[in-house]
Amino acid sequence: MKTQVVIVGAGPAGTLLSHLLGRAGVSHVVLEQQSRAYVLARIRAGVLEWGSVEILRDAGLAERMDREGQVHDTINIAWRGSEMLSIDSHELLGRRMMAYGQTNIQEDLYEAVDAAGNTIIFEAHDVQISDPARRPSVTFVANGVSERIDCDFVAGCDGSHGVSRTAIPASVRTEFEKDYPFGWLGILSETPPLPHLLYANHQRGFALCSMRNPMLSRYYVQCPLTDTIDDWPDDRFWTELLTRIPADKAALIETGPSIEKSIAPLRSFASEPMRYGSLFLAGDAAHIVPPTGAKGLNLAISDVHYLARAFVDHYQRGDDGYLDSYSEMASRRVWGAMRFSWSLTMLLHRFPDMSDFDQRAQEQELYHLSTSQSAQIAFAEQYVGLPLEV
Ligand code: APR
Ligand code: PHB
Repeated sequence: MKTQVVIVGAGPAGTLLSHLLGRAGVSHVVLEQQSRAYVLARIRAGVLEWGSVEILRDAGLAERMDREGQVHDTINIAWRGSEMLSIDSHELLGRRMMAYGQTNIQEDLYEAVDAAGNTIIFEAHDVQISDPARRPSVTFVANGVSERIDCDFVAGCDGSHGVSRTAIPASVRTEFEKDYPFGWLGILSETPPLPHLLYANHQRGFALCSMRNPMLSRYYVQCPLTDTIDDWPDDRFWTELLTRIPADKAALIETGPSIEKSIAPLRSFASEPMRYGSLFLAGDAAHIVPPTGAKGLNLAISDVHYLARAFVDHYQRGDDGYLDSYSEMASRRVWGAMRFSWSLTMLLHRFPDMSDFDQRAQEQELYHLSTSQSAQIAFAEQYVGLPLEV
C-alpha cells in the first residue's frame, strides 16, 4: 500500500486529523490498535475552549455539539470550606466555553470519517514505524495478516503509550516530567449538574463538580494513588464530595448511582521536538497535562489544527513553512497549557508534605484571585484558551 500520510492512533487527535486531511483531498490511512467500541467507551474530560469549538465548527463537526453542548462562562472556586470566588470569562473577556464530552466528540468524529469514506483500520496490531527521518513506512498486523504502507509522512497520534514518540531516537528527544502524589477519582451520574463548574480546595483534598448535559454530571475528588475503586463505594464518594464543597452548593446536588467510576493519576509530561524528519507528533503522544484546567483534549485539537494546515499547505501549495515551524509553534501552545495546568494543580490540591506555610501561600493566592480583577483576567485568558497562532 502507498498513501500520503499514515496516522497512528484514532483517538480525538488522529480522527480529527483524518477528517481535516480528507476534506482537503490528502490521502491517508489511520491505524488504531483498539476496536472502535473500546475507544468509544473511554470516559474523559469535557470542557472545550472556544478556539476548539471554532475549529470543530469550521470542520463541519459541530451539528450535535451545538445542539447538546452546554455553553458556559463561569468558573467557581471554593476554598477554606465556605469562601467562594467566581470568574466570569464572558464578562471579563467576552469569551465562553462549551461543556461537551470527549466521548461525544469521538462519536461525531467517527461518524464524519465514515460519511467521508476515510479509512480507519481498527485492531491494527504491532504497528512499527521505519525510517521516520527520510522515507517512512509503517508495518502492522490486521486480521492476522502483515501489511506495509509506504508514505510521505507519519502523524503520531497514538497517545502517551504509543510507538510514535519512541520512534524518535532518544538522543534527539528531550523529555520534561512532573508527577503529582495523588489521583482523581471520577464518577458519572445521571443526575442534574450544578449550573457552573465548581473547583474546591478543601482541607480533605480537592473536589470538582462538572457537567456533561442537563441529566449527566461528572464529579471528582482527590484521592491517594494507592486507592482503588473498591475503596470508594458510591456512598463514600458522595459523602466526601459533599463535605469538600460549600454547604449551600452541597445542598443543591442530587446524588444517585454512579454509572462510571475510575481513578486517574495526575502527571505533566512533554517531549520535544514534536517533529523528527517525516514523523510529526500530536496530542497525548507528545504531552500529558493533569486534568485540572481540562486542557488535554484542547491541546490535541490545537496540535491537529496546526498539523493539518501544514500538510495541506505542503500538498496544495508546495509550501513547507508550517511543516517547518510545526514543532516550535505547537510546543509554545503546549507550554502555555502545561504551565497553567501545573499552577492550577498546585493551587487547588492538598499535598501530603504540605506545611502551614505552603497552605497560607495557597490561601493568599486564592484570596488575591478573588479580589483582583487583573488576576481574574489572567486566569480566564488561560482557562478559556490561549490564542492560536496564524
Ligand atoms: N498503534 C495504534 N494505535 C495506538 C497505539 C499503537 N501502538 N498506541 C496507542 N494507540 C491508540 C490508542 O488506542 C488510542 O485510541 O492511539 C489512540 C490515542 O488516543 P488518546 O489517548 O485519546 O490521545 P489523543 O488522540 O492525543 O487525545 C488526547 O485524550 O487522553 C485524552 O486527556 C487526553 O483529552 C485528551 C485526549
Ligand atoms: C470534566 O468535565 O471532566 C472536567 C472538567 C474540568 C476539569 C477537568 C475535567 O478541569
